[in-house]
Amino acid sequence: MLDWYDANKRILPWREDPTPYHVWLSEIMLQQTRVEAVRDYYARFLEKLPTIEALAKADEDLCTKLWQGLGYYSRVRNLHRAAAELMNEHSGNIPRTAAELRKLPGIGPYTAAAIASICFDERIPAIDGNLLRVFSRMTGYDQDIKSGAAKAAALEFYEQVFPHHRCGDFNQALMDLGACVCLPNGVPHCEECPWAGYCRSKADGTSQHLPVVLAKPKRQIEHLTVFLIYYHGRLVLRRRPEKGLLAGLYEYPNTGGTLDSSEVSSYLQTLGFSAIRFRALPEAKHVFTHREWHMTGWEILADEWEEFTSGAPREHELFLASAEDLRNVYSIPSAFAGYTSRIRFDYLEPDTLQESSKE
Ligand code: ADE
Repeated sequence: MLDWYDANKRILPWREDPTPYHVWLSEIMLQQTRVEAVRDYYARFLEKLPTIEALAKADEDLCTKLWQGLGYYSRVRNLHRAAAELMNEHSGNIPRTAAELRKLPGIGPYTAAAIASICFDERIPAIDGNLLRVFSRMTGYDQDIKSGAAKAAALEFYEQVFPHHRCGDFNQALMDLGACVCLPNGVPHCEECPWAGYCRSKADGTSQHLPVVLAKPKRQIEHLTVFLIYYHGRLVLRRRPEKGLLAGLYEYPNTGGTLDSSEVSSYLQTLGFSAIRFRALPEAKHVFTHREWHMTGWEILADEWEEFTSGAPREHELFLASAEDLRNVYSIPSAFAGYTSRIRFDYLEPDTLQESSKE
């Protein structure tokens, strides 16, 4: 692998002069970003901020500006914070072990291992997508490659094959192998691979089916129509069922589907409201882990409500809330934030509901 690297390594700017600062900066830039996209940013950043000290002293706006276009801006904020921490607590030096590096803002297990191995020859694999793919094909590992179990198995595999010197080169060799030979999509170039003779999936003819990447479950899209119903200075609320999504929280009355204005009218009648005026509110969206709500909303002013009841709110039963109740008592999930922000407090009376306001 190291011979292959010596003959085939990519010429990359941060490999020319791999000081800890240069390697750190490149590894942060390379998170979620392609090598080609990073080159120019890397050069420009170092031209303006050539040392950790310069970075620590720089205005955050300058750092952000130098990052503009790379995306994931928390990376540069963390870089800046970490530089200050290095100046204050480490005399401007980058720690020499992965364990110490991981304590700095923005440095996770992969980045810590990359820096510690490349700069200080720590024997630790920098497990990224490339190393996981190479591991999966080498060993025929056919479980979900994104799982913690896969990372643990990869670590165990690399623990056995890692050399005791040139550890940074070994990690970078695997990165280059993954990027140029053991390709993620399409046919891998096994004829160029120094490990082809030891590769399980090459022998089995399964390289193209590995690693196993589970399809992200598609989020289900649900359409909802949400109502902000004002009735004599109160807003109509409802308590969600005790079980399931957003259990036991409060919500604005809503129903499945996207209702048009005549459907809105009939639906409100089924809830017992009459003599209403209404207008459409803007659409809103909320993304949960496994579903998305695509909502349309309506503002309703109702003069009559035949089902008016009071007392403790029960599941699914509509009830009235004053402005004070809305602020202090009822917890309305942020899934409804698009409509919470549209509550017209000027339509509401401030005080808590009294029995006497029943009629
Ligand atoms: N991707 C992230 N870090 C890298 C490195 N040091 N060499 C090649 N590709 C990389």
